[in-house]
Amino acid sequence: MSSSPLTPPTMQEVHVWQWDLDACGSHFDRYWEMLSEQERERAGNFHFDLHRCRYVTGRGKLRQILGRYAALSARAVALEYGPEGKPFCTSHPAGWRICFNLSHSENTAALAVSSGLEVGIDVEHIRPIEESIPLEVFSAQEREQFDALPSAERQTIFFETWARKEACLKALGTGFILPPEHFEFDLSVHGDTTPRFVGGEAQEASHWCIRSLSPSATCAGAVAARHHGWSIIEMN
Ligand SMILES: CC(C)(COP(=O)(O)OP(=O)(O)OC[C@H]1O[C@@H](n2cnc3c(N)ncnc32)[C@H](O)[C@@H]1OP(=O)(O)O)[C@@H](O)C(=O)NCCC(=O)NCCS
Repeated sequence: MSSSPLTPPTMQEVHVWQWDLDACGSHFDRYWEMLSEQERERAGNFHFDLHRCRYVTGRGKLRQILGRYAALSARAVALEYGPEGKPFCTSHPAGWRICFNLSHSENTAALAVSSGLEVGIDVEHIRPIEESIPLEVFSAQEREQFDALPSAERQTIFFETWARKEACLKALGTGFILPPEHFEFDLSVHGDTTPRFVGGEAQEASHWCIRSLSPSATCAGAVAARHHGWSIIEMN
């Protein structure tokens, strides 16, 4: 486990880290040592060992990486929470403000780190879609596009769109306090994009930039920020 210092992202960069929560599970004891009392208490509330192990590995590795940016030990990294639970880092190295967001889906974890830019990240393992879900997730226009898709394409496009929406809601810090259709996309556009509407407004949508992530062939992902002119730097 490296503890060497990391160079901060520039204003045009978002550093993206990805790791396998199950492969890192062999370091469970070391990650456990890195957690705060509050995080250990939360770990204790998981019903299944697999989920507890993934949470500890996710938080431990998050702290380890943030510690390398902040030149602190993992345990000394200070985390606080926004009103809807978005964690943020209050340990700031001289000259820049660490912003980050974490996501996990099954064994895949992804972390976005930027210099002062509020970011959201989401990864989603591509899995069967429950019948009722597209109705809840899509606006009327998105739903029309989705229904017109060949059935072979639906699953991938559903999770691509879902990841975009969740990344945006996580950048705002609201999560699903806002409805998923708050951010509306053109489902025919793949890869990097801009929403069509945000809260029904095209003007607000034009400020947003969503970059696509492909953690693996079976996983969709996106990074979002209300700002243009940045790129993803893959860190591993
Ligand atoms: C944020 C939210 C979309 C995450 O959903 P999820 O299915 O767990 O998705 P992900 O794995 O992508 O994200 C989880 C991570 O996002 C971060 N996160 C938590 N709440 C967040 C928020 N409001 N905004 C941005 N990021 C958030 C955390 O780091 C969390 O991981 P951790 O708990 O292991 O540290 C969902 O929890 C939500 O809608 N929360 C807000 C509404 C709510 O429940 N508020 C009351 C809590 S105080």
